[in-house]
Amino acid sequence: MVTEDRREWDVKTLLEAARMARDHAYVPYSGFGVGAVFMDADGHLHSGCNVENAAYGPTNCAERTALFRAIADGRKPGEFRVAAVIGDTDAPITPCGVCRQVMVELCRPDMPVLLGNLRGDYRWTTVAELLPGAFTSTDLQPQRSS
Ligand code: THU
Repeated sequence: MVTEDRREWDVKTLLEAARMARDHAYVPYSGFGVGAVFMDADGHLHSGCNVENAAYGPTNCAERTALFRAIADGRKPGEFRVAAVIGDTDAPITPCGVCRQVMVELCRPDMPVLLGNLRGDYRWTTVAELLPGAFTSTDLQPQRSS
């Protein structure tokens, strides 16, 4: 397994791509737009924004929109090299728990994740750091009879 070095990625390019994805956010209820990009094995950026709903629950966050879009476009779980997320927050945005679980499912634990805000603040983290102790496929082993 190749371990990606986060220094390899250009922070400005990633955050600008995420910011452009945010421009498409459909947020009539919260007014809080978020943008996300996931880079695939070929270096292509798959982008997503949050898409809200009057029933609230069906709302899809930017991170999940981008990842589901990439998978639907034929990209494979585990191939993503880096992700970036941006929102208009005081500190760099922090992904919700549901998106963290989805990232655990579809991204390698050591994949770098760049979190930013519109002021230019950012911080690097990884999928594993975002959700320690995640429930994964290895927890789905059949129950052994006692
Ligand atoms: N949201 C995201 O899209 N990503 C995050 O990381 C945090 C929250 C969205 C969900 C909802 O549309 C709005 O932000 C307010 O919670």
